[in-house]
Amino acid sequence: MSVERGTGPEIENLLAERRTFPPDPAFAARANATAELYEEAEADYEAFWARQARERLSWFTEPTQTLEWDLPFAKWFTGGQLNVTYNCVDRHVEAGNGDRVAYHWIGEPGETRTLTYADLQRETAKAANALLELGVRTGDRVAIYMPMIPELPIAMLACARIGAPHTVVFGGFSAEALSGRINDCGAKVLITADGGWRRGKKVGLKHHADEAMASAPSIEHSIVVNRLGDDVNMVHGRDRWWHDIVDGQSDDCPPVPVDSEHMLYLLYTSGTTAKPKGILHTSAGYLLGTAFTHWAVFDLKPDDIYWCAADIGWVTGHSYIVYGPLANGATGLLYEGAPDAPTWDRWWEIVEQHKVTILYCAPTAIRAFMKQGEEIPKAHDLSSLRVLGSVGEPINPEAWRWYRDVIGGGTTPVVDTWWQTETGQIMISPLPGVTTTKPGSATFPLPGIDADVVDGDGNSVPKGSGGYLVLKRPWPGMLRGIYGDPERYRETYWSRFEGMYFAGDGAKRDEDGYLWLLGRVDDVMNVAGHRISTTEVESALVDHQSVAEAAVVGKTDPISGQAIFAFVILKAGQEASDHLGVQLREHVAYVIGPIARPKFLMFVPDLPKTRSGKIMRRLLRDIAEGRQLGDVTTLADATVVDTIRENSGKAED
Ligand code: PRX
Repeated sequence: MSVERGTGPEIENLLAERRTFPPDPAFAARANATAELYEEAEADYEAFWARQARERLSWFTEPTQTLEWDLPFAKWFTGGQLNVTYNCVDRHVEAGNGDRVAYHWIGEPGETRTLTYADLQRETAKAANALLELGVRTGDRVAIYMPMIPELPIAMLACARIGAPHTVVFGGFSAEALSGRINDCGAKVLITADGGWRRGKKVGLKHHADEAMASAPSIEHSIVVNRLGDDVNMVHGRDRWWHDIVDGQSDDCPPVPVDSEHMLYLLYTSGTTAKPKGILHTSAGYLLGTAFTHWAVFDLKPDDIYWCAADIGWVTGHSYIVYGPLANGATGLLYEGAPDAPTWDRWWEIVEQHKVTILYCAPTAIRAFMKQGEEIPKAHDLSSLRVLGSVGEPINPEAWRWYRDVIGGGTTPVVDTWWQTETGQIMISPLPGVTTTKPGSATFPLPGIDADVVDGDGNSVPKGSGGYLVLKRPWPGMLRGIYGDPERYRETYWSRFEGMYFAGDGAKRDEDGYLWLLGRVDDVMNVAGHRISTTEVESALVDHQSVAEAAVVGKTDPISGQAIFAFVILKAGQEASDHLGVQLREHVAYVIGPIARPKFLMFVPDLPKTRSGKIMRRLLRDIAEGRQLGDVTTLADATVVDTIRENSGKAED
């Protein structure tokens, strides 16, 4: 493992950006979060979170202890009982806010649907009763595989209402990815749809769901939303239409009190091996972590119109479309489609029409908009925006400034938020009324969070140096483990540096103590803000009958951050051809999902390896980037890279 990937010219660029942006005094005067929060949390972080938990969450039974920390296993708010859906929905209705809009939903073809908190309460109760009718009980797992339609958050909240953990699988994943996740957690019911809309086209889901269910014996039933009105295969006794089984249910379904540490959900994410990990989140701590950060980082006020443009299939959607915002009683936007459908205006039309005040999206989207030119957003009135968030990958200073200037009219604060599926909640970010920002820096750990940059021995690096990002104390939204594999949990996150959580990211702390994230230092790629493991793509390639061996690296990409570059050795007797290249890329899309389809694929006669047989990815990265080769002294056969180099003009795009 090395940190060299992020250093060099990148850091020089970052440091060349000297302009800083102090908070606007008028904003600061009204801001939710003030500098005192840092002091309070530093004085006693457990007491700080205990106060937040008392004030932000509604309990059926108050907790008796704030934290039990048996490193690396944390339990927060033990002795307490609550219900997550009650906190996200029912209590707002009880407080007289039933008519407040929870979601303005916009389908890609343009239809809309408005759901108030009272609507959400009715719908989640009915869906929960449907799950009960199908035999789902507290603790049973439910898989969800859906497009961005209102039934998706309703399904999640229905699960939480009865204490059934959900696992949402992104609708862009393949049947194989879906069945792998269902089988890992033994889900009993699958909630899906006939399909959804993407860039003006219907994208079917049920046939993937059928294929997945065929190899997922734990599934007893599926519930299918009729989104497209398409005729799909329905297996008698197993599959039920949502409108048949949900709509007629009673809208009374009391939320089930669960322990603070009751499993809320599993979300599978890529690591350094081929098998995705089931990241386990529990109820009270996670809800508190997302609610607090959503309030503090986005400065949420009652009249805000908040739009997180992520897909709910990723953790950003779980934490900042569903749980955090709903716990705070926010009014949010839910959009089904892509930013360029039907035109690149679409987002700005939505912002203008709905007077969106807070926008949260990924740098990859911002860079894609930059490429289209500023005339497009400038043709719309975006003056309602007052906070802009970024998440998922390092944001380059140029994109940061464009976001603030063009989208934010030169005055709107940008919050670059660093966190992970595993952390559950935002960990490093400016507070918009407090922090002086620097374009490209995620700035400082939030109140209550202890993040550090350490060298290979785990010692804090001095200001001005780079190293590994670690977290040094537990936090409420942290993962509680990897489902069914405590040893892998310990090994993956807690073994590299004693007593510290290792995030897998490189970072630098500048002379002023600001943190700059430098990307992954392990074999995980970040493509358009999505984590994809090199090993996972390699095993998908090797799964093809023509492939003997494959090595995959991330290549810098101006829009998606990284693009997947695959080096492939064919089996004897197989002919390299453009056609086979296309087939192999499609094969990866089939096995994992279209997001994992390699952008570049190169056939090679051999791969550079050390004498012990380990593939030297560093050299492959140099080749992919067209860079001068680094140290080749440990290479077993130095002629290999020359041969690859000679071929490298032939990589397909
Ligand atoms: O490498 C970091 C990058 O995304 C990884 C986490 O990916 P995932 O679990 O899919 O969650 C993404 C959304 C929270 C991190 O290890 N990352 C996330 N946010 C940032 C970031 N890198 C730099 N700056 C960020 N703001």
